[in-house]
Amino acid sequence: MMEENKRIVKDLVQLSEYALSGSEADIRLFLARLVRDYRDEYPKLSKLVSDLLKKQYRSSRSYIREMSDAEPVSIAYADPVEHEKPVCLNGPVCCSGRIEPILTDDLKRQFTSLISEHQMKDRLYQAGLKPACTMIFVGEPGVGKTMSANWLSRELGLPLYTIDIAAVVSSFLGQTGNNLKAALDYAKQQSMVLLLDEIDALAKKRSDDTDVGEFKRVVAVLLHEIEHWPSESILIAATNHPKLVDPALWRRFDCELHFSLPSGDAVERAIQEFLAEDYRVFSEYTEIIKLMVEHSSYSDIERLMLRFRRALAVGSMTPLEIVTQAIPVEHNRTRRLSYAKQLLKTSKLSQHRISVLTGVSRDTLRKYKAQQRWEVND
Ligand SMILES: Nc1ncnc2c1ncn2[C@@H]1O[C@H](COP(=O)(O)OP(=O)(O)O)[C@@H](O)[C@H]1O
Ligand SMILES: [Mg+2]
Repeated sequence: MMEENKRIVKDLVQLSEYALSGSEADIRLFLARLVRDYRDEYPKLSKLVSDLLKKQYRSSRSYIREMSDAEPVSIAYADPVEHEKPVCLNGPVCCSGRIEPILTDDLKRQFTSLISEHQMKDRLYQAGLKPACTMIFVGEPGVGKTMSANWLSRELGLPLYTIDIAAVVSSFLGQTGNNLKAALDYAKQQSMVLLLDEIDALAKKRSDDTDVGEFKRVVAVLLHEIEHWPSESILIAATNHPKLVDPALWRRFDCELHFSLPSGDAVERAIQEFLAEDYRVFSEYTEIIKLMVEHSSYSDIERLMLRFRRALAVGSMTPLEIVTQAIPVEHNRTRRLSYAKQLLKTSKLSQHRISVLTGVSRDTLRKYKAQQRWEVND
C-alpha cells in the first residue's frame, strides 16, 4: 500500500506540474498513460479519466492529423482506450480530384519503383527482402513534397497521416521523445503513409545547449522507429533544410527523393495545369509568364495563375492587361529588357505602352526592333 501511495503521489505531483505549465498536449499524454497504468487496480478512476479525455477531445489539438480533404477522421493519440485496441479508422481516405504532382523524370522513376515494390511485396518477402518503406523528401517549400506524399498514399491505397512536429516538441525536458514515440506507436497500428513534415524542426533543437539530452533522445527514438518501421506502412520525413538533419538519421532512410524548383518544360506544364481551362486565353503570353515565374516554386506559380484566372472571371481586364499588370517592378535592367522584348514580340502594344510598363526607354525599344528586323532580313 505504501508503494501504491508513493506512486499516486508522484503521479499527482507530475500532473500538477504539467497542469501549471499549461501544456495541454503534455497533460493529455500523461493522463493517457494514467488511464493505462491504473486500469487494473483502479478501473473506475481509469474509466473516468478516459471518458474525460474523450469528451474533451474535440477542443484539443491532436498530434496526428488526417490529411485528406475527405471527411475528417477523428483520432487523437490521447484517446487511450482506442490506443490500446487495434483502431479501425473512420473510412480510408478517399481519392479526391486533385491532380498528380508534376515530377522530374528522375522522381517519377523513383516513385514508380517504390509503388511496384509495394504492389509486389510478396515477391520481395519470398526473396527475403522488404519494400523500401522509409524515405526522406528534400526540397524547398512549395515544390510538391506534401502533395507527393498525398498522391503516393492514393496510389498505394493507404490513408495519409501526418505528425505535426511542432506540436510534438514539448517544453518539458524528456517529454518530446515520449510524445514522438507515442504518436509513432499509434501510427504503427495500421497500414498508412505517415508524413513527418519538417523533420529538421527536431534537429534544430540541437543548437540550444540545454537541449542536447532531449535532442539525443528524440534522435534515438527516430533511429529506432525508422529501423523497425513496418513494411506495410510508409514513413516519409520531409525537410526544407537538409543540412539540419542529423547525418546518422539521414543514413537510415531506405531512400531519399529530391524535389527541385520547376525548370524548362515543367514550368510550361505548371502554367498550363494551373491555368486549366483558361490556358488558351493566356497561351500567347506564355513566354512572358515564364519570365515572371523564373525561380519560383510550383505553389508560387499556382498562386499567380489563380490570380490571373480570378481577374479573367471578374471580366474587367483583357488577358494582356492582366498579365502586364503582374510584371514585377524590377530594378534589374536586363530583366526589364527581357520583358520588353517579349511584349514587343507577342503583344500589339505600342512601344510607348511597353516603355511605360517595363521602364525600358523607347529609344532602346526602337533600336531593338530595328535590329530584329535587320536579323530577320539577314
Ligand atoms: N510538383 C508539383 N506539381 C504540381 N503542383 C505542385 C507541385 N508542387 C507544389 N504544387 C502546388 O503547390 C501546393 C503546395 O505544395 P506542397 O506539396 O505542399 O509543397 P511542399 O510540401 O514541398 O512545401 C500544392 O498543393 C500544389 O497545388
Ligand atoms: Mg509540405
